[in-house]
Amino acid sequence: MTIEVAFFLPDESDAIRIHETYREDGEPDSPLRPFTELSEIEKCAVIKNHSKKFQVASVNRVKVGWVSFSEKSGGAEINVGFGLFKEYRGRAMGQIMLGHAVKIAGIQYPKGELIARTRVENTAAVKTLGRAGFTQEGFEEFPPIAKWPNPIVYSRHRFKR
Ligand SMILES: CC(C)(COP(=O)(O)OP(=O)(O)OC[C@H]1O[C@@H](n2cnc3c(N)ncnc32)[C@H](O)[C@@H]1OP(=O)(O)O)[C@@H](O)C(=O)NCCC(=O)NCCS
Repeated sequence: MTIEVAFFLPDESDAIRIHETYREDGEPDSPLRPFTELSEIEKCAVIKNHSKKFQVASVNRVKVGWVSFSEKSGGAEINVGFGLFKEYRGRAMGQIMLGHAVKIAGIQYPKGELIARTRVENTAAVKTLGRAGFTQEGFEEFPPIAKWPNPIVYSRHRFKR
């Protein structure tokens, strides 16, 4: 069976879906509030920012998740983010989505190195990154922020072209 993967700019409902998925995935005391509880200005900001930051991924014409690329260090590093909507997890779909995203990034950012960060205990993401061609480089502590006083250890992955 052929697998067709495509990426789109999020529409309004995609942007809201990404916000809600982030919120549900987040720390128990995540500062993110449900979309319906946001003010009108905050709702507009979520839709505008998510529409710019993320690309929605479809597999065989079903929207299953999102990827993001953000340039750091003047374009030398491209930070990669990705996730599946909850109902599509548990079927190794992440590696299909991320594998295609990496190919697109190679065209969009031919000079930048792809870097991904994930919590060390996020086994599904660590395995997905490995299967999409990233190698684990080591660990780094994220600085503590007020809400989460203990530093969070992240593993850092680099995509080898
Ligand atoms: C990361 C993510 C995309 C992977 O989704 P997926 O493709 O459905 O991954 P799967 O659930 O099929 O799991 C992949 C592997 O991890 C393993 N795994 C998944 N959850 C696990 C857990 N809690 N503990 C141990 N292993 C786990 C699976 O058994 C599978 O291993 P196998 O293929 O060797 O049997 C998805 O979990 C997700 O969207 N997470 C939230 C967002 C996120 O963490 N993004 C990455 C950081 S930017």
